[in-house]
Order: sequence, then C-alpha cells, then structure tokens
Amino acid sequence: MSRKILVTSALPYANGAIHLGHLVEYIQTDIWVRFQKMRGNECWYVCADDTHGTPIMLRAEQEGITPEALIARVHGEHARDFAGFLVGFDNYYTTHSAETRACADDIYHKLRAAGLIETRTIEQYYDPLKQLFLPDRFIKGECPKCGTADQYGDNCESCGAAYAPTDLKNPYSAISGAKPELRASEHYFFKLSDPRCEAFLRRYTSRDNGALQAEAANKMQEWLGAEGENRLTDWDISRDAPYFGFEIPDAPGKYFYVWLDAPIGYMGSFKNLCSRNGLDFNEWFKADSTTELYHFIGKDILYFHALFWPAELAHAGYRTPTKIFAHGFLTVDGAKMSKSRGTFITAQSYLDTGLNPEWLRYYYAAKLSASMEDIDLNLGDFAARVNSDLVGKYVNIASRSAGFIAKRFNGQLAPADANLPALRTIQKAAGRIAELYEAREFSKAMREIMLLTDAANQYVDSIKPWELAKKEGKDGELHTACSNALNLFRLLTVLLKPILPAIAGKVEKFLNIAPLAWADAQSLLAAGHCINAYEHLMTRVDAKLIEKLVDANKESLAPAPEQQSPQRHAQHQQAEVPAASPWEPYCNIDDFMKADLRIVRIAHAEHVDGADKLVRLTLDIGNNETRNVFAGIKAAYDPAQLIGRLTVMVANLAPRKMKFGLSEGMVLAASDTAGESPGIFLLSPDPGAQPGMRVK
Ligand code: MSP
Ligand code: ZN
Repeated sequence: MSRKILVTSALPYANGAIHLGHLVEYIQTDIWVRFQKMRGNECWYVCADDTHGTPIMLRAEQEGITPEALIARVHGEHARDFAGFLVGFDNYYTTHSAETRACADDIYHKLRAAGLIETRTIEQYYDPLKQLFLPDRFIKGECPKCGTADQYGDNCESCGAAYAPTDLKNPYSAISGAKPELRASEHYFFKLSDPRCEAFLRRYTSRDNGALQAEAANKMQEWLGAEGENRLTDWDISRDAPYFGFEIPDAPGKYFYVWLDAPIGYMGSFKNLCSRNGLDFNEWFKADSTTELYHFIGKDILYFHALFWPAELAHAGYRTPTKIFAHGFLTVDGAKMSKSRGTFITAQSYLDTGLNPEWLRYYYAAKLSASMEDIDLNLGDFAARVNSDLVGKYVNIASRSAGFIAKRFNGQLAPADANLPALRTIQKAAGRIAELYEAREFSKAMREIMLLTDAANQYVDSIKPWELAKKEGKDGELHTACSNALNLFRLLTVLLKPILPAIAGKVEKFLNIAPLAWADAQSLLAAGHCINAYEHLMTRVDAKLIEKLVDANKESLAPAPEQQSPQRHAQHQQAEVPAASPWEPYCNIDDFMKADLRIVRIAHAEHVDGADKLVRLTLDIGNNETRNVFAGIKAAYDPAQLIGRLTVMVANLAPRKMKFGLSEGMVLAASDTAGESPGIFLLSPDPGAQPGMRVK
C-alpha cells in the first residue's frame, strides 16, 4: 500500500546565500524524497524562506530597501540555487505569507484557549539611538568570566562561558555602538513549564517513542532533567516593534518571535500547495492523521524542532512530527568553512565555476548516514571519488558497450541473459539497498552499489567486447555481451537515480525508456528493444576547477599593492642572472623510457598483519599475469575500496624481498613532499584504459 508522506527541510534565513553547508541538508532530504517517489509512495516535499526577525529588518535597512523587497530578491536567489542542485521541492514558499499568518494566529489562539499563553513584564536591553530592543546577538561587551572584549550577549568565544546579556561588562549596541539601557516591556510566553507540556515532552522525546535519533533523544531527556525536576522554562514568543514579522492578534506593537512562525511556515507552505493541488490539508495535520510527517534539520536547531514545535502542535490540537531527522555539520578539508581559506563555498559559485551538481550530490551521498556526526568535504578526495566511482566505474559500463549496439546492430538489443550472475546479484540486492535508503544510510547504500558496479565491470572485462568486435563470426556473442552490459547499466541507474536525477534522465533518453521507478530493478529490457544514440553522460572532475572554486570564494587578505610592490620590485632587479632551474639535473627521454609503466587492475587488496602502513595488492597486469606488491597506502585507503580500480605500476622495478614477502613492483601515487597537506593519492587512468597498456 502506498504511504502518504510529507517531508520538510529547515527553512533557510532570507538574508544570506545558500552555501555547501546548507546543501548537505537539502541534498540529503531530496535524495530521500526522490527515493520515496520512486517507490510509488505519495510524497510531498515542501520548504520556504524564513523571512522574519531583526537581522533581516536591519539588513534591508542597510541596503536601503524594504524587507519585502529584500526577501523577494533572496527568494529568487535561493530558488535558483536549489534548482541548480536539482533539489526538487514540490513547493518553495515564504513564511511571509497569508497561509503562515493564518496558521500562526490559529495556533496562538488555541494555545491561549488551553491556558498555555501568559504575559509577563521583563527587562531587556534597549538601544536608545536606534530605538529598538536588542536581540542577544546584537549586544556586545566584555565577558563577565574572563574579561575578553567584544563578546556577544549570549556566550564568550574565548572562554566558552554562557550568560545573560545583562551580565556583560561595559555593554554596547553592536548596531549603533550606543550604551544600551534596561527597559521594561510586556512579553508573551508559551508555558512550557506547564505539567501538561512536560508530560507530553517526556513521552514524545523518549527513546521508545522513536521520533528522535537515539543521540537526540538522550540529549533532550538530559535537558528535561530527572522526573519531577521540571527544568523547562517558559518560552518568550513575542518581540516589540519595530520588528519585521506578524503582529500578534489583539496585541498592537507586539510581534511573534521569528522562531514561533518559522516552523509554522512548514504548514503554510503545505497549505499553499494543497490549495493548488486539491490536497486536503486537514487530512495531513489533524491530530489523528495517519499520514507521515518528517522534518530534516541540522543538529543546531534540534531544541526548536524536538521541544517547542511538537509541544505547540500537540496542545493546539494538531498531529506531531512522525520523526525528526537531524544531521551533522559540514567541514571542508577537516575544518570549519572559512572565508579566508576560500572554503566557505556558495552554491552559486560552485555552479558558476562549472562544477557539476551531481558530483556533489554523489559525494555527499557517499558520506551521509543516519547519525548526527559532522561530515567532511575533502576536496582532493571529492575529485578522486567522483572520478573513480561515477566516471571510471558507472558511466564506463555504458560507454564501452553502447557504441557497438548502435554501429553493428542498428541500435537493437539482443535478449539479455536473465541468469547472468551480475544481473541477478543486482536484482537481489535492490531490496537491501532500498532499506538503506529508507534508513538514510546513504553511504552504506553507495558502497553496495559500487560493489555491484565493480561486478558489472568485471563481467565486461571478462567478455572484452572490443576484442570480440575485431574477430570474425563473433557477432552473436558481441551482441549478447553488449546487451547484457546495457541491462546491467540500466539496473545500476535505477539504484543511483535518487542521487543522480539528471544523469538518470539522460540514460532514460538514451535507453529509450519511460522514467525508471524502483520496481524496474526487477525487469530487463526486451529483446529487439531499440536504443537511441549514446550521449556522453559525465565528465571527470578536473583538479584545476576545484582550485578555481576555492579562489573564487577566497576573501582577499592580500596586502594592499603599495605595501607589496617595493619588495616585488627589488626581486625583479636582482633577477638578472637566471637562477639554475630547480628541475635540474634533467632526465632525458631514454632515462625515462627505462621505467616500464603499465596500467594494472587491483584484483585484490588486503591488510598486512603486523604492518602499520602497508596494503598487499594483487595486480592484474593483463595477459593473465598478476603481481604481488606491498604499497604504503594504508593510511589513505581501505583495501575493500581499492578492489577493482585501475592504477599505474612500475612493472620492471627489481623485485624486493620484504619482511612480509616479495614485492614485485610499485604502484604510483601522489603526495605532498613538504608534508603540508597530508594524503596519498593513487593515480587512475581515464576510462577505457586496460590492464597491460604501457604508460609513456
Ligand atoms: N531559519 C532557521 C531554520 C528554521 S526551520 C523552521 C535556520 N536557517 S539557516 O539558514 O541557518 O540553516 C538552514 C539549515 O541548514 C539548518 O538545518 C542548518 O542546520 C543547516 N546548515 C547551515 N549550515 C550548515 C553547515 N555548515 N552544515 C550542515 N548544515 C548546515 O537555521
Ligand atoms: Zn570569556
């Protein structure tokens, strides 16, 4: 039976550009949604811009435009970036909408009727120059613990202390620099401390309830404290004018705090979709709804989604989220994204530099799991991974067999061999891979899919269509081999389609088939089926593009030209006598040709007991010859991942007896001799190279 599933990603703030950190979330969600749709489930994916609050109001003021104009412009930019990364929302809306306002008013009224809204007068810092109450982030001063200057109103970046803004010494407004004054004002609170809320949240966030990941459930239970010790404090949901947001009904000059209406924006966006698609909003949000609701979020906004939001929904008579899926944060090359290093990479710059969005989708998929652990984008590994897995393995299967079908068989397929082990294995694995997608264990799914891809390549390697094509009387065999290969390719495309929707689209066109659904993994192409001309599916990642990308995102820290030029000038003056080339002494072509470099396939790879750095490789060097080589690459490669890939070896290196056995050659890898960027990068040839080919 088809499930009814509503999925959201967090609503990005409408005052900044989408960057690769955000995209972890939107790509993760999109993959899951595409998978659900391929399964035949009714699945809707909604999102919106989060448009309210003081920072957006001030940003618009700085730009000399209205907040409405700012959020309209950013909405266009965000929608463009998401489309560029193939994030397929069913609705990308805005929280500044009639629907969100209506839902916010409704929830507020219901909470008030339930006795869960209370007003209280509190004192807050006020900027007398700017004439507004200051959010914590806009108050700076000296840390009350360690005295470090210029710390924010909520915590100290130097010693990590957390405090209230009123604890800061010598506070000032980060907007105007004025000394803030304490002023009293009436605020509206959602009474989270009410026993009903506490009881509900204990249940909702419990591990048994299963709405949260185990780590998240533990964190929330810790936050709630022991039974009886109610640690929940009431939540301040109002802000005073001037504020960009929704005015609270019957409370002139008071506005809903942005975090009150932001999650309600999920409802608003869905309501808007319902009105356009004829869906019944009530069926999805009524308290006893049998539909499923999932929120994908970053771990930084867990409290809002796991505590405040479900408590609001439950006590306003709505359904609560089925599950909340929190993910970790993105690091680039092992560190926080940094503007000076050029690793704070915007979505737009990635696309403008000419990088393919599906490279990133694949790389993230290969790293993502159901946990809240951070994920690292290693720029060197990114290129290697995409080139080896997608171009070298997956696309390679089609590019090696499609041409023969077109040229020799009029584009018509022969019957596939339904008992071919490589085909049967993929069909059998599809169920298990579906479970991994469902559980958001994308990296495990990618590992399995790549093993299946290796097996498919091994089939093609064993049949060698390019050799059959040269022999007389082998037409039948060639036809079957290429038809089998294209069937293998089609099945692998089903499994990769949630990750690579654009490539899958091209494949559907080239194979001349209807859009692939998950169930298609169980069928084969009919004999006589006619395919279209093969179009190139994906290019390799060129390392130069990545350099360009990092440069494009580097905030210039270069010294001003006048500081730089005198030294430069002096260097030029001295450079009259050409220095000896750092590349001398030169090697001539005869010297170079002494090294016999060959393409090899890693037929087997394993750990070596007792060796810290070594992996034992069995290399297929063509002509049924294998070599045993010990390579010092254990730090960089998992042996299981090496099996099946091509690399380059020095084939005529004198054999060397080692403690663990005889090493009969050496594989080639790049590394930084200065030791600044650690890493070992095994060479791979372009697709098409075969074991035994000479490299020169
Ligand atoms: N507007 C709020 C969310 C409101 S949801 C009702 C917000 N916006 S955000 O633009 O800061 O972040 C949007 C999402 O992107 C959040 O889930 C956040 O965790 C995620 N990420 C932002 N930077 C990220 C990384 N560097 N890495 C991974 N995810 C990141 O929060
Ligand atoms: Zn401090």
